[in-house]
Amino acid sequence: MNPRIPGRRFLHSPGPTHVPEEVMDAMRRQPMDLADVRVDQTIAACEQGLRRVLKTEKSRVLMFSANGHGAWEATIANVIPPGKKVLIPGTGHFSDSWALQTESLGFPVVRTPWVEGLPIDVQAVEQVLREDREHQIAALFVIHTDTASGVTSDVPALRRTLDACAHPALFVVDVVASLGAAPFEMDQWGVNVAVGASQKGLMVPPGLGIVAVDDRAMAVATANPAPRFYWDWRLRDNSLSYRKFCGTAPQTLLAGLQAALGLIELEGLDQVHARHRLLSSAVHAAVDAWSTAGALDHFCTVPEARSVSVTTIKIGPGIDPEALRKVARERFQVSMAGGLGPLAGRAFRIGHLGDLNPAMILGCLAGVEAAMTVLGIPFGRDGVARAVARLAAD
Ligand SMILES: Cc1ncc(COP(=O)(O)O)c(C=O)c1O
Repeated sequence: MNPRIPGRRFLHSPGPTHVPEEVMDAMRRQPMDLADVRVDQTIAACEQGLRRVLKTEKSRVLMFSANGHGAWEATIANVIPPGKKVLIPGTGHFSDSWALQTESLGFPVVRTPWVEGLPIDVQAVEQVLREDREHQIAALFVIHTDTASGVTSDVPALRRTLDACAHPALFVVDVVASLGAAPFEMDQWGVNVAVGASQKGLMVPPGLGIVAVDDRAMAVATANPAPRFYWDWRLRDNSLSYRKFCGTAPQTLLAGLQAALGLIELEGLDQVHARHRLLSSAVHAAVDAWSTAGALDHFCTVPEARSVSVTTIKIGPGIDPEALRKVARERFQVSMAGGLGPLAGRAFRIGHLGDLNPAMILGCLAGVEAAMTVLGIPFGRDGVARAVARLAAD
C-alpha cells in the first residue's frame, strides 16, 4: 500500500461523503465554554437551517451526539408506547436493520415484504393498515432512500395511504440518505417525524443524529410512559444547550453543520437537488452502457425509483465486488461501497451525493472502468462517453 496518496482520493461511498473545505475550516475552532452565547447561536443556526432543508416550519429539530442508528433509537424510544407495534415496509437492508433494532427494544414489528429491485409495495402497506382495526400500529417507519438497494420510495403515496385508511399511526421517515440530495417536503407531505444524520447529503463528518418532530409526534412522545433518559425528547426540548444535548454539545460538528447548511443555502436547495439529479443520471447512463456486456446491471429495476444519492450495481457470478473495490481504491483512488446484507458479494455501490461536481463523477466512473479493465470484467466500453453526453446535454 502506498504510504502517500498523491492528489485526492475520490470518496464515492454513499456516506460518509466528501467534506467541503469550508466545513473543514469551520471545524478548526477551539471549543468554547458551555455558557458562551456563540454555542447557542451555532445550535440555533443549525436548527433553522435544518428546518429549511427539511421544508418544515411546524417541527422542532432535535440533535444527538450519535450516528443514524442513534437517531433511529431516539425515535423508537419516543413514539412507540408500551404494548404498541410498528409497521416497517421492506426496502432492503436498512428497513431490516431498523426493524431489528425496534424488536431488540421490545416492540413488535409488522413488515411488508421487500421485493429485490423494487420500491415499497404501497398496496401491501395499505392491506396491513386496513387489517389493523384496533390501531395497534403506533407508527409507520419508512426509509425514503435505502442506501443498500439504491431505491427511493414514494413518500407522499404512503401518506395518502395512511389517510385513505384513516389510520392514526405516526408517519416517520428516515431521510438519512436522501436529505440534501432528493426533494423532501416534511410539512407538505404530512410527515410527523423525519430522521437524519450528518454524514451524507449534509456533507459533515459522521456523529450527529437529527430528528425533526411535529406537534402530533411530540404529543405522543410527551404522553409515552416508556422509560428512557438520554433519548428523551421531552428533556431535549429545552432552551439550554446542555439540556438540548443531554450534556456537552458536540461543538465541532455543529460548527461544521452550520457551515454546510450555509453552503446549501448559497447554492440554493433546488439547485442542490437538480445537481444530484443530473450527476446521478450520468452514473445511470454509464451503468446502462456497462450493462450491455451482460456482467452487471442496475439493481433497481424501476428507473424512476433509482436514487439520486447512490447507485447499486448487481454483478454476475464469478465477479468479486470486493476485489473490484480494492483495485479501484488502491490503484485508481476511487473509493466505493460494497453490497450490504443480502446483497453482500452480489453488488457494489457508487455514492454520488454531497459535495460533488461533474468532473468528480467522471473521474469516479473512469476509475471504475479502469478497475474493471484490470480485473477483466466485461463491460460496455462507452460508459464514460455516455456520462459525458448526459452531462453535456444539460
Ligand atoms: C438510510 C439509512 N438509514 C440509517 C442509517 C444508519 O446510519 P449510521 O450508519 O450513521 O448509524 C444509514 C447508514 O448508512 C442509512 O443509509
